[in-house]
Amino acid sequence: MTQISYRLPSVEVDDKAAVQSLQQELARWFDVEFSIYDGFTGDLLKQGAGQPHLTQTVDRDLVQACAERFSPQFLTGDDYLELYALPVRTRENRRYVAVSAMLLREVDPTQVRSADLVRWIATARPQNPATVEKLGLAVFEKLRAEGRWRKLETEVDSVSSNLTSTYEEISLLYALIENLRLSKTDEDLAQLALDTLDECLPAKGFAINLLAVAQEQEVTYKYKARVADKLLLAGECDFDLESFGRFVEHVNLQPGDPPFIANAAVTRDSNWPFGDIRQVILAPLFEGENLFGFIAAFNHSRNAEFGTIEANLLKSVGGILGIHAGNRELYRRQAEFLASVVRALTSAIDAKDPYTCGHSDRVARVAVRLAQELQCDPEKLSTIYMAGLLHDIGKIGIDDSVLCKPGRLTDAEYEHIKLHPELGHRILADIRQLGECLPVVLHHHEQWNGKGYPQQLAGEEIPFLARIAAVADAFDAMTSDRPYRKGMPIEKVAEILQRGAGEQWDVQVVDAFFSCINEIVEISRHERENLSLDVEQWV
Ligand SMILES: [Fe+2]
Repeated sequence: MTQISYRLPSVEVDDKAAVQSLQQELARWFDVEFSIYDGFTGDLLKQGAGQPHLTQTVDRDLVQACAERFSPQFLTGDDYLELYALPVRTRENRRYVAVSAMLLREVDPTQVRSADLVRWIATARPQNPATVEKLGLAVFEKLRAEGRWRKLETEVDSVSSNLTSTYEEISLLYALIENLRLSKTDEDLAQLALDTLDECLPAKGFAINLLAVAQEQEVTYKYKARVADKLLLAGECDFDLESFGRFVEHVNLQPGDPPFIANAAVTRDSNWPFGDIRQVILAPLFEGENLFGFIAAFNHSRNAEFGTIEANLLKSVGGILGIHAGNRELYRRQAEFLASVVRALTSAIDAKDPYTCGHSDRVARVAVRLAQELQCDPEKLSTIYMAGLLHDIGKIGIDDSVLCKPGRLTDAEYEHIKLHPELGHRILADIRQLGECLPVVLHHHEQWNGKGYPQQLAGEEIPFLARIAAVADAFDAMTSDRPYRKGMPIEKVAEILQRGAGEQWDVQVVDAFFSCINEIVEISRHERENLSLDVEQWV
């Protein structure tokens, strides 16, 4: 049996090719040619070879009705001839009706008046109507099943393509969300988005504009405010800050507006001022009410139009970048507030004991240098700096008469002053953001041999940063002038530290001290400058 090989035409195949293909396929099945009609208009598209004139003049209404009813049928005929019609629908929503004249029995040509029919009868073979109907139905169902199959294939292709693109979109959003860490700068995250966007959004160029964050005061601590607008670009994108600013101004997005989309209908207008931009999406970087910048995609990579799918993706990316920028700004403000608190507390210690003015600051700086030498990470450097500033905060609770006494302390006075680590710990205990500093404040007078205070911890029981602070504290105490004595020369201090290594102080911290002794002397000589908590700025 002949296998159906007719494939419903694809979108690319024009009507002519589709009609020819259909005609050939039906000829193989029925052994006669079919004339092909347009099922919508009833027009004859192609006359079947060897078909009588009759199949050129089928009534349009009959063709249209057959296409509409969508089942094969005998249209009309007489005692020896019938017109058989077979409707076909394609997935491009075309409708054809194939019509062929069928000879039902042997006819004496002399009984036929039309010369056209005589010619046809001479070559046509009589067909059994029941057989034609059965065959027609089989072919019809076969074609219909193939049509459904092709349609399903198209749907699967489309779903698969959508899934791929959705997967890429989700991957991008996931990667961004995964990187929503405060340690990442807005620029880092924006760059990550730019690196990945072209995999899921068909644009030739992308831009992310990060707006400067308004500053209320000098920025300190690790999280700096962005002091100037920034523009990050990817792909073909001929913008600078100034021209991008003009573009944003032209679009004039208002809070709550959906992303701006412009395609040819807008960009072809003579009033469109950005000649190179044929398609564009612009979305804000927002966090609540706060605007942190804009994200834009320029020129569709296939010169097609941007739609809501692309716009929503860009909006989501803008939302994530906005949330990150908002969180960082919030954190920066918190850090700024914390810096103000630490400043106030440090000033309070200085006011209480003016003779040791600058001691906390010097201890903090020296401790950071030691911690660096001991390979501490930036977080630890930040902690030891804050802790250095605050280590003697408990002296606020020590009587002035004892604290400022010029001369030797009595045993009772010494016991009183030894309370300051615990007092300091108590003062700061409720400031959660200073939690990391507490062990240093409490234990900076412990000694390696367990003879320190307040808890007589020994060796590695003493928190590491407290052991660092102890060396920095001792160094500054010994080298600073006091009303009752001059500061010791560095050689003497070095000798004391060397002797106390493994006794009063941790050997590795003392070793670190000697590794960078010159720098430490230099650091301790510096007058107290701006009290910056931005460790990176001066380390
Ligand atoms: Fe102290």
